[in-house]
Amino acid sequence: MNRTGIYPGSFDPIHKGHIDIINRATKLVDKLYIAVANSPHKKPLFNLDERKEMIEEEFSSNSSIEVIAFDNLLIDLANSLKAEILIRGLRVVSDFEYEFQMLGMNRQLDSKIETVFLMADAQCQSISSNFVKEIARLGGDISNFTNKFVASKLKDKYK
Ligand code: COA
Repeated sequence: MNRTGIYPGSFDPIHKGHIDIINRATKLVDKLYIAVANSPHKKPLFNLDERKEMIEEEFSSNSSIEVIAFDNLLIDLANSLKAEILIRGLRVVSDFEYEFQMLGMNRQLDSKIETVFLMADAQCQSISSNFVKEIARLGGDISNFTNKFVASKLKDKYK
């Protein structure tokens, strides 16, 4: 049985926590769409194309992964891609409340689509895009949190 999954997020920018989750998710599905949400309410630092490019750079050699942008309901996207699994990463306890609510809403919109929660490696548990951006903006070392490509893009942004 061919399984298609979607890993949605803002990815502003992608970091090692996301990468760890994606590598785990590829073991569960045959095809994984990494769906980059426009998320204008978060006033992203990187535009959609930039966020997509940074993910594509990391996974260019993996043919089971496709990076797409979206600006509609996640459930509608899942149906249009015939995806039956949504992947979300869980980190700290505070993630749970928001994820619990989002799962509940998505399930009411379409109960056929399952959400699977994955946990990243211990050293990735505390990484968040917002903290990575803040550390980069203040000139700190982000090499433990992102890949070199993203680190150089962040350096350019904060030049
Ligand atoms: N401003 C900027 N960045 C913020 C933020 C803010 N106010 N609040 C959180 N963030 C950053 C965090 O740093 C965090 O980064 P991470 O990727 O390292 O975790 C990330 O945003 C967490 O935000 P979160 O809302 O948990 O996830 P997300 O933005 O990555 O993904 C979607 C959320 C895209 C899955 C969800 O909004 C969605 O499905 N949107 C589509 C529309 C839809 O279907 N809505 C109905 C849902 S029931």
